[in-house]
Amino acid sequence: MEVLNLGMVGGGTVGSGVFHALQRNGELLAARIGIRIQVRKVAVKAVDEPRPYPIPRSLLTTDWREVVEDPNVHLVTELVGGTTVARTIVRTALRLGKPVITANKALLSAHGPELFAEARAHGTNLYYEASVCGGIPIIKALREGFVGNQIVALYGIVNGTCNYILTRMAREQADFATVLAEAQREGYAETPPDLDIDGHDAQHKTGILASLAHGFWVPPSQIHVEGIRSVTLLDLQFAAQLGYSIKLLGIVKRLDGAAPGRGRGPAIQVAVYPALIPTGHVLAGVQGVYNAVLVRGDVVGDTLFYGRGAGKDATASAVLSDLADAALDLRFGSRQRRPAFVEQTPGGRVVPMEQVVSRSFVRLSVVDRPGVLARIAAVFGQARIGIASVIQPEGHTGEVVPLIFMLHEAPDGAVCRALARIARLPVVKAPPVRFRVEPLDQDGPSNPNAGA
Ligand code: HSE
Repeated sequence: MEVLNLGMVGGGTVGSGVFHALQRNGELLAARIGIRIQVRKVAVKAVDEPRPYPIPRSLLTTDWREVVEDPNVHLVTELVGGTTVARTIVRTALRLGKPVITANKALLSAHGPELFAEARAHGTNLYYEASVCGGIPIIKALREGFVGNQIVALYGIVNGTCNYILTRMAREQADFATVLAEAQREGYAETPPDLDIDGHDAQHKTGILASLAHGFWVPPSQIHVEGIRSVTLLDLQFAAQLGYSIKLLGIVKRLDGAAPGRGRGPAIQVAVYPALIPTGHVLAGVQGVYNAVLVRGDVVGDTLFYGRGAGKDATASAVLSDLADAALDLRFGSRQRRPAFVEQTPGGRVVPMEQVVSRSFVRLSVVDRPGVLARIAAVFGQARIGIASVIQPEGHTGEVVPLIFMLHEAPDGAVCRALARIARLPVVKAPPVRFRVEPLDQDGPSNPNAGA
């Protein structure tokens, strides 16, 4: 049987997970693809660093060049993370014509087009299944499984840390700070947690998914992002009373009513924000660290992918899948069969968030006095934003009480401007809280009164 040598850069959590998975299922993989993948060298930060699975010392080096530049290494994994050294490692390997497998969403997000071009120029390829949603084969699904579909919408719970925190807040009726602190103590959230809870990890992943779904590269600068710091227990409770759960979603939607992009490519929404989704929807049932992605294709309809989005074993599973593809591509000389990224023509555009239309949940803290509701409703009315329902929940007494509005569809910019005006009313005692509502239905929300 043909043997291909693998050079691994990164032997930490994910790297040692890949090593272990290859030990465990290497024979199975070989039987399935007809090629044996053999680890030749592993570059690590420090030989003695703790790792979840052991790697024989004889394979270890602290010099990544020794791995990448070894003429007997045929395939390279980059599992170090970050965007500086990782970029050099990937470029060096690609320039040597070696296929690279990476799990590095931040690197792709920052330098994807450059690395794809490098792969093309050197007749090799870059594989990145592990970069989005760990063990869920969502990259392969978008590139291959749905190759015959227009992607109408994609909604992803793509950050396990945020989903874990929101799940625990709802389940234990606990506030954000308490749950975050506990999650950090238990190792479910990083310290500092900003990359996850401010939505940037989800932004990187959503950009990759949007680019694959629509065939033009979507850089992070074009992706509206809001994290989960603003989600309070009170909002989870009011949302639940109205039949909704709050989830951090990566959202990619075709906006067929918007002006098309350059060359009449698709106009799309790409964003990350905490959204209210119907509690009865299957995505609302995705609990804890699990990820899930709903892909709506124009031919296939709704499909759902669910699984562990992070962790050494789930991520290793995705790396093994890429290793199999890379090995087969090498063997059959088909390295460009599925290029890392296919720029489709004509190009598309990301619609600025302020033009995107959605429903909203708004929570105000107001003085409990006759006439207050009328003054606030007048601002929405002047902004031509329809009110679907208003609740002043009972049981809240005192000078300041909550007032909840469910708003019909309206452009984001109009909602933000109306809320800025409302915030300035003397009867409003705290900054308005607003979350968008995503009904997740097949036909999308429709409200003949929107803007009326
Ligand atoms: N930190 C990420 C998460 C996993 O919480 O889902 C790596 O992208």
